[in-house]
Amino acid sequence: MTGEKVDLLVRNAAELVTVAGGSARPRRGREMAEIGLIEDGAVAVKDGRILAVGRTAGVMERVKVGESTTVIDASGKVVLPGLVDPHTHLVFAGSREYELEMKIEGVGYLEILARGGGILDTVRATRAAGREDLIAAGLKYLGEMLAQGTTTAEAKSGYGLTLADEVKMLEVVRELAQRQPVDLVPTFLGAHAVPPEYRDDPGGYVDLLVEEMLPAVVRAGLAEFCDVFCEEGVFSVEQTRRILARARDLGLKLKLHADEIVSLGGAELAVEMGATSADHLVHVSEEGIRRLARSNTVAVLLPATTFCLMGGQYAPAREMIEQGAAVALASDFNPGSSPVNSLPAVMGIACRQLKMKPAEVITAVTINAAHAIGRAAEVGSLEPGKKADLVIFDAPSYRYLMYRFGTNLVQTVIKSGKIVVGG
Ligand code: NIG
Ligand code: FE
Repeated sequence: MTGEKVDLLVRNAAELVTVAGGSARPRRGREMAEIGLIEDGAVAVKDGRILAVGRTAGVMERVKVGESTTVIDASGKVVLPGLVDPHTHLVFAGSREYELEMKIEGVGYLEILARGGGILDTVRATRAAGREDLIAAGLKYLGEMLAQGTTTAEAKSGYGLTLADEVKMLEVVRELAQRQPVDLVPTFLGAHAVPPEYRDDPGGYVDLLVEEMLPAVVRAGLAEFCDVFCEEGVFSVEQTRRILARARDLGLKLKLHADEIVSLGGAELAVEMGATSADHLVHVSEEGIRRLARSNTVAVLLPATTFCLMGGQYAPAREMIEQGAAVALASDFNPGSSPVNSLPAVMGIACRQLKMKPAEVITAVTINAAHAIGRAAEVGSLEPGKKADLVIFDAPSYRYLMYRFGTNLVQTVIKSGKIVVGG
């Protein structure tokens, strides 16, 4: 590669945070604080991939800057790998701001759902929406996410709850992936709620999921993961095990909404099933933490959800890290429990409420988040060969990002070697 001409060069970054060395398996426990920080750092890009990373002087010796090379001076700035959001409900119609008063008055999330509102309200709106409306909304949200540094995101179905409507949602995800820069990883969440038609026969809906919906979604190649909302009054541990087992047999990777509101043994189930991630975990048991720590299942924490649900208790992140679990963070962007799609906002909340240290937070939204969606070989760190996804923040240090929570400090976003935000 000596002297190879590059397309793009970012140089003289005050802090270049590579998060390198964690692509083979997620960083766990103490390793989460290792973020591969390089002062006066540079990244060279060719054909959409990273060619060289290191101190500016060293990189300059190894590459050739030609007339066609775009050179970005990142003096005084922080450069991070493009952020990865491993848990979103990106596609939905409408919004539920009217739930704010209900939550302030103390009406519980599961109570709103049991009254036929909450998720089911969004199901009504999403079923009624045309594809173009869902695509337009999705493009708007993805633009907001990209502007705040997200370059890869997971996107779930789960507001259709019929085969046709779930397929519609997943086709919208596929279309969105083609129409804008953020890479999307599709997840089938047909088991998000029991639809009104099956209110008196929830077992019948599980049969439908297992016998018809999952095979059809897999045949159409529309999903990479299967997820289930395993929760009291939604899907039981037994029903969840059955759905996940079928999904796994059909070749899907697994995720789980686990122990979000009630402690049901969701973390234990996720590990038992070999799930790629167990998400939420606010009420994870001691045993669940121990099993997560001994597994490769990534614990995906969603503190913006706890914040928006006004819950007093947050996921025990410190205990998970101290016991050696691999922790990632996500927005859980959805119209109900987390209308937040800003990962920097999630990062600020994670420091203050989960008591995660800034370096651990960086790992949690980059390489560990990439592991949580099976993309760690491609994104999540700045290493030669990986996609050239990077974010330049107008911040003097990586800690400053979390410290100045609430202000968008993104200056430039580069996706696959192309400048897609700022300049
Ligand atoms: O992850 N908990 C279940 N699903 C979402 C919320 C979806 C909604 O309220 O519309 C969550 O919090
Ligand atoms: Fe969720």
